[in-house]
Amino acid sequence: MPRPIIWLTMVTPILALFLVFPPPIHLLKSAAQHPVFWSFSKHVDLTTPAGHGKDALHGGGHEARPYTRRIVAVGDLHGDMPNAQKVLQMAGVVDEHGDWSGEVDFFVQTGDIIDRGDDTIKLYLWMDKLREQAHAAGGTVLSHLGNHEWMNAIGDWRYVRPSEITTFGGVAARQRMLSTGRIGKSWTANYTVTSRLPLHPSLGPPNTDYDPTTHNALSHAALSFVHGGLSPTYHDLTPFPSRINELGAGLMRKIHSHPPPPPSPPHPYTGLPPDATEAERELYGGNGPLWYRGWALDSEHKVCSQVDDVLKRTGTRRMVMGHTPDFEHIASRCDGKIIIIDTGISHAYGGVLSALSIEYTLTPGSSSHSDTQWYEREVVTAIYPGRHEVLANEERVIQGKFHVS
Ligand SMILES: *[C@@H]1O[C@H](CO)[C@@H](O)[C@H](O)[C@H]1NC(C)=O
Repeated sequence: MPRPIIWLTMVTPILALFLVFPPPIHLLKSAAQHPVFWSFSKHVDLTTPAGHGKDALHGGGHEARPYTRRIVAVGDLHGDMPNAQKVLQMAGVVDEHGDWSGEVDFFVQTGDIIDRGDDTIKLYLWMDKLREQAHAAGGTVLSHLGNHEWMNAIGDWRYVRPSEITTFGGVAARQRMLSTGRIGKSWTANYTVTSRLPLHPSLGPPNTDYDPTTHNALSHAALSFVHGGLSPTYHDLTPFPSRINELGAGLMRKIHSHPPPPPSPPHPYTGLPPDATEAERELYGGNGPLWYRGWALDSEHKVCSQVDDVLKRTGTRRMVMGHTPDFEHIASRCDGKIIIIDTGISHAYGGVLSALSIEYTLTPGSSSHSDTQWYEREVVTAIYPGRHEVLANEERVIQGKFHVS
């Protein structure tokens, strides 16, 4: 076959793909308006921020030192240690040995580590190791329970592979480890259903409840993370995040207080413990934070008309979730207010390896006795092997007294 024909056969499908899936206009626009801002390290170059002169940064005669917080979030891992390792290394969370790199402040995983693959034990032990290493280095690991963690806890073993049961040494050993054993205990101690992660330390440590009576420029400078989604009609959304997390902790205690239910299959599915309350049943229901898919599947018009209300009530600017995979990219909806990070990372799906990075910078500008001006920047980036895509790049000038320690 002559060469030009080979070339055409290769290029035509790629061109056709561009015609069918053009990049969203808002991404092109934001890329044109703002220089791409990207750094793997904590040292952020803010010497020439777009739209602001040097004066805003160096007013008051002192050297301006930007406060930076870098967050990396990763979605469903489903039993695939090698792909998880690749993703965390790609995003700068770990080094080539799988140890905490110290390059990020927060690593967030949105649940569904278990099922569909064989590396369940390795992954949970690795998460505990990273939590310890992060802590020693001044970083934080935030772990969440996905619907699959709960399914396994209540005996819904439909997605468990027989070879994975072997890695535990049998059904009984697996039941033990997921309840009173190492993994079940870590779920209780170190995992929550949702979290609220402040972008700035003046809002308090992670999972500080949003106080609806505070109003300042930073009161919503936070992100929420959850496996499924925070439905606008879910009854126990507030106080956020403590209400949901107390319900989750209570339900897990209740499950662990009963003998592990016989796994289904082959036994019949028994569901939540008989003494589960109505609120606990809603937590685990289709409209609850573990299973809700509305933010991923509903129309653009519907989700964008609902999202602001949930952000307002939860004291957040964006919500990040997994659970509903898109095998090609991290989905950003309503200008990055909704971000869905499940890209089918596990070989069980063969999706794309991905991580979400959020880099937040608050830089003191000019200040007087009564007022300080700050220059705030939030860059949200999807990271894939060999490339990245800026999903949001927001800049604001805000007033107030915020302590950068
Ligand atoms: C929670 O995480 C810490 C730090 O990784 C770990 O040492 C501890 O064993 C975990 N807790 C439980 C109860 O497993």
